[in-house]
Amino acid sequence: MVSRSSRGIFPSRYLINRAANTINIPERTYMKPHCIDLYSDTQTRPTPGMRAAMAQAVVGDEQSDDDPTTLQLCEKVAHLLGQEAGVFMPSGTMCNLAAILTHTRPGDELICDHQSHIYCTEAAGASALAGVSVWALQSPHGIFEAQQMVDAIRPRTRTAPRSTLLSVEQTTNFSGGAIWSLPQLQAVRDAARSHGLKCHMDGARLLNATAATGIAAADYAAGWDSVWIDLSKGLGCPVGAVLCGSVDFVREAWQWKYRLGGAMRQSGVLAAAGLYALEHHIEQLKADNTNAQSIWRTLSASNLFRFDPVQPSSNILRFTFDPASIDAEAFAKRCLAEGVRVRAIGGNFIRATTHLDVTAQEAETAAQTMLSVAQAMARRA
Ligand SMILES: Cc1ncc(COP(=O)(O)O)c(C=O)c1O
Repeated sequence: MVSRSSRGIFPSRYLINRAANTINIPERTYMKPHCIDLYSDTQTRPTPGMRAAMAQAVVGDEQSDDDPTTLQLCEKVAHLLGQEAGVFMPSGTMCNLAAILTHTRPGDELICDHQSHIYCTEAAGASALAGVSVWALQSPHGIFEAQQMVDAIRPRTRTAPRSTLLSVEQTTNFSGGAIWSLPQLQAVRDAARSHGLKCHMDGARLLNATAATGIAAADYAAGWDSVWIDLSKGLGCPVGAVLCGSVDFVREAWQWKYRLGGAMRQSGVLAAAGLYALEHHIEQLKADNTNAQSIWRTLSASNLFRFDPVQPSSNILRFTFDPASIDAEAFAKRCLAEGVRVRAIGGNFIRATTHLDVTAQEAETAAQTMLSVAQAMARRA
């Protein structure tokens, strides 16, 4: 019989040893890509320890609130974020969408930054599914002033959309991994609340902010009506995110999750990865931030790179070039040919993201590669 592994889909070392009812997962055999992959922190592979935790998960029926591992994960994340309750979601995108659906009614307006994930991607779910228009603020790194936000709130008239929801990203993804300070967050939150808006925090990389500043995630999230963290980014899980808020909020968000087809069954297998990550991978986020700094130091010593923000504060680097004739798409292609994967994100910017599967040595190698590619391209410019 042709096994899946002999067709090259699934290396035999991952096959289940049914006789022993165990999974044979030798150290470091998880398949790393054949490049240093800085494309995104979503590119991590579950570690052997994580896979083992998943294999051993106690499971039930999540849709009936009966999967103990998922319940444990939700409780743990809610506690971490200082919220009353949490709900496990298949993705961060569904966290944003379920929160928007819960907080708003069709015809409302949501205020966020023009480079936020909600506005730039997510297939316009806020508009398509929640019937909400989006007012996108222009700010340099996804961090706007309270007054700028207040100025965007519509007057309560018969004709205007109702401004009912504020959303911020901590850290800001496409804006270069910038971190909102606590006073900045509190200022926009208080201003929004005083105008009757609900406050939502897209905390896909909130724990990267905590790793960088030492400020507890619960302090960043205090007073926000909803907040979530992604498990499938720096934490290294294959899938999942946890959306948190009050008990009432989570009850409503759960119903939206179900309507959207996000209710699961034996989700404990996935939740176990999240629990494992919260125990074993949080410390690594500091190393990711440090590795981003080391790439920045190497590249910024040359005058070929223009960083924006001028220095990374978390695990995301965003830069363009001087001379401006160096094309970001061409740069990314040449880097890939040299074994380093980065992402051209528009506006002639490159985004490079450090994560669990990039060691300090690989970060340095990647920086040297990017430097020599830029030097070669500059010579031809
Ligand atoms: C800031 C931010 N929000 C939301 C998302 C969506 O998360 P997911 O990929 O888990 O749907 C991402 C993913 O990159 C993100 O960076």
